[in-house]
Order: sequence, then structure tokens, then C-alpha cells
Amino acid sequence: MTTSTHDAYYDLCLRLLGPWRTTELTGAQLCEVGEIVHGAPERFSLYGVAAPAMAAAGLRILGRTAAECCVDTMARAVAHTIADLHGPPDGRDGPLVAELFCGSGNLSLHLGRVLNLPVHAAELDPLVHHATRHNLSRMGAPTRLRLIDYRDLLSQLPARGPRDTYIVEPPWGPAITPAGLDLLGTSPPVPEILADILRARGHQPCLIAIKTIDHILHDSLNVAFADAHHLRTIASEWPFPDGTRMQFHFYRLGPGA
Ligand SMILES: C[S@@+](CC[C@H](N)C(=O)[O-])C[C@H]1O[C@@H](n2cnc3c(N)ncnc32)[C@H](O)[C@@H]1O
Repeated sequence: MTTSTHDAYYDLCLRLLGPWRTTELTGAQLCEVGEIVHGAPERFSLYGVAAPAMAAAGLRILGRTAAECCVDTMARAVAHTIADLHGPPDGRDGPLVAELFCGSGNLSLHLGRVLNLPVHAAELDPLVHHATRHNLSRMGAPTRLRLIDYRDLLSQLPARGPRDTYIVEPPWGPAITPAGLDLLGTSPPVPEILADILRARGHQPCLIAIKTIDHILHDSLNVAFADAHHLRTIASEWPFPDGTRMQFHFYRLGPGA
């Protein structure tokens, strides 16, 4: 990575999470995110629409969501991994699938398509919720999106069975530094979210998918999932300009894990 690439990436992230945080990005700004964060405008693709076509498709992407989101290639890989972990339908009602920190809703859209299920999603920021509701409706996604704290959504979703799946991607905030990501410092900390999930479902086992980068500090992934069983990890096709890659880890959580 050259100094100028690094500086451009760092500056853009500061703008997306600072002054542009709640600004709807223009077509040119969306392409800039693609070029600088993902290496090419087309790689920044959400809901199956690449950055150069997003504005014409009427999509509304806020600065913070552009920085925090999971792009199509990764969202599809997550959805196919979860489908594989679920195995063939068991003839009963489908499992509960919930994205607790929805952001763009791109994961919910791909999960819904691949699993053929309506995905429940919580988003607490009214501006993100508003833009995401617009985008999901434009793309015909059957996501059940609510403007709600994830804890309140959890309390309204009783457990169905061991294939129930929760997607966990809290804002990283100060938990991410050039040294790496501390999952004990996210807001809320990951162990607290896992405890909330287990409490809400009466401690019945379930599946968890969690997003990280591949530089994890203080062994915090293993600490957070000390009582869980690791099933799989997948990584993004290409690295960010700082050399890190996005990862998703899949765990079985709960008694007998
Ligand atoms: C890292 S982003 C999620 C990115 C998302 N998975 C995507 O692909 O776009 C975290 C999101 O969670 C939302 N959020 C933060 N605290 C929340 C809470 N307590 N309940 C629900 N959503 C919350 C934030 O507003 C933000 O949009």
C-alpha cells in the first residue's frame, strides 16, 4: 500500500463517519467509495447494484452506511454459508433469521433470497432506517425491518429451533484502531449481545454470524465466544487498502455447543 492510497482511504473513512455520516451520497461519491475502499467502483455493490448505477437506480446510501456495510460478494457468501449450515429444509416452519444491526440491509436482502425466508432486522438510527426502508422496498426485499433497538426486537422473537440464526454486526466505533479490532470494546460489547440473545430465547441453542476484520486484538473473538463452538470462517475476496480483510465467523451458541 502506498502512502497516498493509505491517506486517501483514511481521509475518506473520516469523512464517511464524520461530516458525511448522515448525508445521502451522490453518484460520484459512491464511485469514490468503490475506488478508494474496494479498489474499483464496481466492487462497491449493494442489493445487486454497483456504485456507478446506484444513483440511477434511486438508491439512497448515507455516508456511515457506505463505510459500515457488507458488499454483495460478501453478503452472498454469508447467505450461502448459512444455507449450508442449516442443511435441507426439515419440513417444519423455517428457522428464525434476524439481523440485529441492519445498516444497509444488504445482508438481510441476500439472506432472504438465498434462504427463501423473510428476515427480521433492527435498525436504531432513524436516518439509516429511513434510507434502508426506501432501498429495500425499491429492490422488493421482504425484510421485516423495524426502527427498534436490537434488544426490543429480540424480546419479540421467540425461539423456533436450533437453526435460528442471528447476524451480529454492532458499530465498531473506538473498538477499531490501526492495531486491529477489539470485540470487547464495540457498542455494545459482543459478549453482552450474545448474552442478550441467549436470554431472549430461554438459553436454547442457535447459530451466530459475526463480522470482524482479520486483525483481532486481545484474543477478543475467542474470549467472546469461549462457550460457543466455532463452525466456519470466511474472508472477503480482496483486502481493504490497509491490508486487512473483512471476515465472518459462524458459531453454534448455547447449551451443548
Ligand atoms: C456496522 S453497521 C451494520 C452494517 C450492516 N450489516 C450492513 O451490511 O450495512 C451497524 C448498524 O447498527 C445500528 N445500530 C447501532 N446500535 C443499534 C442497536 N442498539 N439496535 C439496532 N441497531 C443499532 C447502527 O445505526 C448501524 O446502522
